[in-house]
Amino acid sequence: MGLAIQMAFVVAAALFIFGLKLLGSAATARRGNMLSAVGMLLAIVAALLDQGIVEYQWIVLGFVLGGAIGAVAARFVQMTSMPEMVALFNGFGGMASLLVGAAALATAGSTFTLVTIVLSILIGGLTFTGSLVAWGKLSETIGSGAVTFRGQQIVNSLIVAGIVVSAVMFCLQPESSQWLYLIIGLSLLFGVMAVIPIGGADMPVVISLLNSYSGLAACAAGFAINSNILIVAGALVGASGIILTQIMCKAMNRSLTNVLFSGFGSVSTVETTVEGEIKPISVEDAYYVLEAATNVAIIPGYGMAVAQAQHVVKELAELLEENGCEVNFGIHPVAGRMPGHMNVLLAEADVPYDQLLEMDDINPRMETVDVAIVIGANDVVNPAAREVESSPIYGMPVINVDKARTVFVLKRSMASGFAGIENPLFYKDNTRMLFGDAKESIAGLIREFS
Ligand code: TAP
Repeated sequence: MGLAIQMAFVVAAALFIFGLKLLGSAATARRGNMLSAVGMLLAIVAALLDQGIVEYQWIVLGFVLGGAIGAVAARFVQMTSMPEMVALFNGFGGMASLLVGAAALATAGSTFTLVTIVLSILIGGLTFTGSLVAWGKLSETIGSGAVTFRGQQIVNSLIVAGIVVSAVMFCLQPESSQWLYLIIGLSLLFGVMAVIPIGGADMPVVISLLNSYSGLAACAAGFAINSNILIVAGALVGASGIILTQIMCKAMNRSLTNVLFSGFGSVSTVETTVEGEIKPISVEDAYYVLEAATNVAIIPGYGMAVAQAQHVVKELAELLEENGCEVNFGIHPVAGRMPGHMNVLLAEADVPYDQLLEMDDINPRMETVDVAIVIGANDVVNPAAREVESSPIYGMPVINVDKARTVFVLKRSMASGFAGIENPLFYKDNTRMLFGDAKESIAGLIREFS
């Protein structure tokens, strides 16, 4: 039995790793998700048999309740609210590790176990409240702005010092429970204090970081209860979360420190002088240009998600193709507000994966593109990132739509994007602004085609 259980854990760990690998591409992601879920089921069953549990009724009750809530939430969540849901799941993962750590105290013997208990409670607790604040900011249940006040650093330093002192005292006197309660209370408080000074628009990065923390908390809990599979699963989540966080920071050309401590995204529009004039275009005139185009690149951004325009975008792409035009989509790694945001929306509309080109693949082709249609994207196509050294986004890799022969920008107004900066693209000679809600503008183009 013992060997069979250990083998089951090894197979489960292998399934997690293969699952993660498959999640790396949109075409195989579903299979990857399924494989990892099978691995998790195997791990749970093996763990339940391994522990020699005699009373299963509480476990079954928890499984049914939790499973039902998870299934209903996943079924009904709006695609645009996915980051909020991930935030909540991370938070509950953190809380689970906190509870496992606290429960492990009953059997704790060595100092090592006590240290892992402290870590699972500390990281689990701050992940829980940090994720709840991130959820509140994203869903605007609480204000999404950065909350800062005088003496904030001192308050945070005092909390950290309090955590260190209580952790040491707890390891020295594990029988006096007040230290444990203090660690729990301070770590919950620290989670709130760490996330409130970060602007709402940076929450995707914070959520990815908290996801990593939830993995580390699970890993520590795995050490506390001596569970190899929990250690492996926690380490995988911890590592993948931090890698994703880094990918996002790199794609924004910002450091993690800048994301966590600068209050970026809470600032209002930065004034810069831009030369040139705005040239609006009507749906009818845009249609005539598109009708004659043989190569079109569509660059979606956050506004496509807001307008829920993905289905009409797909329809327009099909009409263009029927008209003998080559159509590709250029996907920036941080377009939208969550990793893979555009991929998910376009997949929902059944846009074939091979039409989705990453930034590095579409940029070299841009000079051969007749019309680049920018749909609700702004920062990710801002040439200031290449041209204006004083720009806050200088150095951020962008999709070079301005190199196409003609650029149509579909947005409602001259408002800035997430970074709050002017976009010189709108003033370029080859740019035409198609003002209006993206879904309505594209529906207008479709009507012209048919
Ligand atoms: P943004 O720069 O935020 O621009 C979105 C544009 O969409 C706005 O200028 C807005 O202009 C337009 N828009 C909004 N609703 C619209 C509608 N219904 N119809 C048409 N247009 C609409 O978006 P982006 O180019 O996708 O860039 C993403 C930004 O988010 C980057 O700065 C990135 O660094 C940041 N960010 C991304 C992530 C991830 S993981 N994706 C994480 C953190 C931060 P109007 O109001 O004038 O319509």
